[in-house]
Formats: sequence, structure tokens, C-alpha cells
Amino acid sequence: MRLENKIVLITAAASGMGRAGVLRFAAEGAQVAAVDIDQASLDAVVKEVTDAGGSATGICADLTQDTDCHRIVDDTVAAFGGLDLLWNHVGHPGPSSVEGIDPDDYEIAMDLNVRSVFWTTGRAIPELRKRGGGSILFTASIAGLIGSPFSPVYSAAKWGVNGMMASLAGRLAADNIRVNSVCPGPIDTPMLKVFMGRPDQETDREANQAMMEKLTPLGRVGRPEEIANAALFLLSDEASFITGVALPVDGGFVSK
Ligand SMILES: NC(=O)c1ccc[n+]([C@@H]2O[C@H](COP(=O)([O-])OP(=O)(O)OC[C@H]3O[C@@H](n4cnc5c(N)ncnc54)[C@H](O)[C@@H]3O)[C@@H](O)[C@H]2O)c1
Repeated sequence: MRLENKIVLITAAASGMGRAGVLRFAAEGAQVAAVDIDQASLDAVVKEVTDAGGSATGICADLTQDTDCHRIVDDTVAAFGGLDLLWNHVGHPGPSSVEGIDPDDYEIAMDLNVRSVFWTTGRAIPELRKRGGGSILFTASIAGLIGSPFSPVYSAAKWGVNGMMASLAGRLAADNIRVNSVCPGPIDTPMLKVFMGRPDQETDREANQAMMEKLTPLGRVGRPEEIANAALFLLSDEASFITGVALPVDGGFVSK
């Protein structure tokens, strides 16, 4: 198994790609700390893992709160005795406007995409050092590699995530900690519906999604499991000589 004896923390773990990661990593032998604000969905994914004979614990947290970003690391260590792998997956689409932007919409996007990730990672690094090293993965986006016309705040936040990733890759290499990001294209999760259909967008959800599919060389949106597969590789020892990489998993969207 590819993650045997590894302890992994995943945020935004009760839905979409994070949920797919919980199921996949547990099937590969990891002990999984699954973090989300949605207790009922968290309970359901943890039950799915344990019913299948895997190991997972659910940690309910609101990652807009700094104290919760720290507590999820502490709770993981209390549950499993340490931490080897961290997947900072939480994020938020934010507003699509710039003119007349609502400060609350700006704040929540920056808090969940950037601030929470700094706070969680900062608490996790000493725990990874105690284990002699580890691996950190961020979820950025293709909007963190190119400018997304629909999502200026989101683009700014995800470029920030990729900047954090590149900086930490150099900083933590001497500690045997690898740091990478995965940059999904449009993926079939509840958040995709938000991206494609925000009220301040000029065109409707169906038209936006059809346009994204047309602009994607593979001609479709991705599946959550396809991101979990990439996350598994980047976090595992199979990627032992890979650090500082922002990997697009996007059906070829940014290749054009
Ligand atoms: N879906 C896409 O097309 C897409 C594309 C690129 C990047 N992303 C990124 O992927 C990540 C998650 O996306 P997804 O599509 O898997 O999402 P999703 O909508 O399937 O799940 C998001 C999860 O985050 C949880 N959450 C929301 N607010 C929270 C909070 N304050 N504290 C803790 N948990 C909270 C929700 O309960 C939910 O379970 C984000 O970083 C997003 O920016 C998504």
C-alpha cells in the first residue's frame, strides 16, 4: 500500500476532491484526519472508511478561525500520535466582481484560501520535523497559474497559494519536507456550480460550463478522484524527488 503507516490531515474533507482523497488515502493504508465544518457529511465519510476497514477520524472545524486552524493539527497528533502528510485543500470561490466588491466576500475568500493555510501549515511544520520530514500539498487552481477573468479575488488568492508553496519548498527542503501544489481545472463538485453561476456573472451557469468544457482539450470537466490520484502521488514517497511543483490537473486547459 502506498501510504502505509502514514498519518495524513486533509482539510475540506467532507465533499468533492477532499472526500475522494480521504477514501483513496485510507484505502492506501493511511490514518486519515478528515477536517470539515460540515459535521454530518464528515461523519458519513469517516463511517465509509471505517466500514471498509480503514482508519479515519473526523475533526469538525471552522477554518476561518485561527484557533481552529491550530486545533486541527493538535487533534490529529492527539488521535494518531503524529503527522506525516498535510493536504491543505480548503478554499473559497470568492466574488467575481472587483467594482463594488463586498468586503465580507473578499475576506472569506482570502481567509479560507490563504490565511487558514498559513495558520494550519505553521502549526504542522514542527510536527513534520519531529517525524524526520514529510510532505505538504496545497490545492491551488489553474486560476493560480493563469488569470481567470471570472475570479480576480480567487486568482489573487491562488497565486498567493502557489507563492507560499514555492517559498516553503526552498525553506523546508533541509528538513526533508517536500512542498507542492495541485492546480485543478474545473472539477465536478458542488463548488464548480458556484464558480459557474455566481449572481454577479454576466452569463449563466450552463453557458459558462459549456465554455469551460470547450476550452479544455480533453473536452470535459474532471472527476474528484482524478485530483485525489494526483494528490496521492505528490504526497507519497513515489514523488520523493519532487518539490516546489505546481501541477495542473486540468485536461490540458493551461497547455494551450
Ligand atoms: N471544484 C473546482 O472546480 C475547483 C477547481 C480548482 C480548485 N478548486 C479548489 O478545491 C478546493 C475544494 O474544492 P471542492 O471542489 O473539492 O469543494 P466542495 O464544494 O466539494 O467542498 C468544499 C468543502 O469545504 C468545506 N468548508 C467550507 N467552508 C469551510 C470552513 N469555513 N471550514 C472548514 N471547511 C469548510 C465544506 O463543508 C465542503 O465540505 C478549494 O481549495 C477550491 O478552491 C476547486
